[in-house]
Amino acid sequence: TLSVRHQIDARRRQSLIGGGQKRIDTQHKKGKLTARERIHVLVDPGSFVEYDAFVEHTCVNFGMENEKYPGDSVVTGHGQINGRTVYIFSQDFTVFGGSLSSIHAKKICKIMDQAILVGAPVIGLNDSGGARIQEGVDSLAGYADIFQRNVLASGVVPQISLIMGPCAGGAVYSPALTDFTFMVRDTSYLFITGPDVVKQVTGEVVTQEELGGAKTHTTVSGVAHRAFDNDIDALLNVRSFFNFLPLSNTDAAPKRASVDPWERAVPSLDTVVPLQSTAAYNMLDVIGPIVDESDFFEIMPDYAKNIIVGFARMNGRTVGIVGNQPKVAAGCLDINASVKGARFVRFCDSFNIPLITFVDVPGFLPGTSQEYDGIIRHGAKILYAYAEATVPKITVITRKAYGGAYDVMSSKHLRGDINYAWPTAEVAVMGAKGAVAIIHRGSKDLAKAEADYVEAFGNPFPAANRGFIDDIIEPHTTRYRINRDLDLLQSKKSVNPWKKHGNIPL
Ligand code: COA
Repeated sequence: TLSVRHQIDARRRQSLIGGGQKRIDTQHKKGKLTARERIHVLVDPGSFVEYDAFVEHTCVNFGMENEKYPGDSVVTGHGQINGRTVYIFSQDFTVFGGSLSSIHAKKICKIMDQAILVGAPVIGLNDSGGARIQEGVDSLAGYADIFQRNVLASGVVPQISLIMGPCAGGAVYSPALTDFTFMVRDTSYLFITGPDVVKQVTGEVVTQEELGGAKTHTTVSGVAHRAFDNDIDALLNVRSFFNFLPLSNTDAAPKRASVDPWERAVPSLDTVVPLQSTAAYNMLDVIGPIVDESDFFEIMPDYAKNIIVGFARMNGRTVGIVGNQPKVAAGCLDINASVKGARFVRFCDSFNIPLITFVDVPGFLPGTSQEYDGIIRHGAKILYAYAEATVPKITVITRKAYGGAYDVMSSKHLRGDINYAWPTAEVAVMGAKGAVAIIHRGSKDLAKAEADYVEAFGNPFPAANRGFIDDIIEPHTTRYRINRDLDLLQSKKSVNPWKKHGNIPL
């Protein structure tokens, strides 16, 4: 038994150094932390509880039976972030390049299963050369086992992926199925097939970074939700992001003590909207001063910038914020903005996070490019998302709410709980110029007609007269109003008709 004790100690020690010091040094030289160092930064000190440090791969091909590392190429377990439970897997690039063996997949599946049972989020730290080539189809089976759990966990517990190294081929689909994917600049990449295969198949010459680096995925493809400068920056940001999230779909959004007075007036809001209706302003200048301590965690800040989405707190309570951005493409809804908004709204609704929507939208973006790419079905996504959402929904129309986009943006008609307009609001079918050109086609005195149209529709009254907005409010009272409403709506109960699942237009 003494020798067993020795072996236990020896193997545990061995598991702590993964693929050995030389490979750890190589990892560090690339500017990357090891799998264990990453966990150390992510969780509260001393809170990590590891599972499966003694498992070994089962491959007997290509001499693999002689090369085994206790724990294989992933570290798994649970820990705490600011005292709240989280399940974690962290792929160890120093062991067979973090490649996914059958046992590696089983370790991940074990913590995912338990996360669903317990009701706690899963954070995956990805750094892997993909399928364990020596294992063949066993490795592919492992991926599918993980995908299946990603899907079952979706809407049950929040799932976050942090890409901290390579993630290619089948490996990309687990992050893609999770709620949020964050990347580390310069050291991480995501692609279906790497540059070599791309060149072989299409003749296209492209670098790893151009094909699937953080910039590509946060600005062009929309695959990743944010990028951070290095491992530490990314892990610390995930820690603060985690604080916004409920642990599961049966948990309320977290509330923490706030030092920001809940009834604080925000005078800057009275002048934030320019006098001229076509002039741009920054919707972040509306959101920032309203939320607690101006602390706004933006999701996809560099993609489809014509819509803003992100998390903040109001009187200590997590809220999801959506806002049209008049500064970019006049705040039009296009395909990318619709999809970005829809996915965010659905996340919030899945996890009981109230939605606050700031509206200044001149409509959907016209043109063949948008129509050919399917703005109708993509625009329908954000409409669907708002319409199905049963969380508290508060809407503030700061200026334009035109056409179908008025309906879409959390309108009263889509079960908006509280809908406000600022005095600068204009709720109309379209802008005055376009409207007059149609209803007074051929008329000489378009200027007069335009002025009449603005007089009739360029103000909040048509919507307020009909009860489509609940009140016209002074902008500086917005924070106070929303906080009061959130208190009121805490006990809101709303249930959709039973269904297996809806059929959101994809
Ligand atoms: N299966 C088994 N071992 C793998 C592996 C895989 N998929 N990917 C990497 N490794 C091993 C390497 O053999 C190497 O082992 P060693 O430390 O004993 O020498 C170690 O992991 C590190 O890989 P290396 O190639 O030296 O690292 P790198 O940083 O130069 O390159 C990759 C990283 C991911 C670009 C490169 O390893 C690669 O292309 N891997 C294969 C990717 C792939 O096609 N996967 C299967 C399809 S999903």
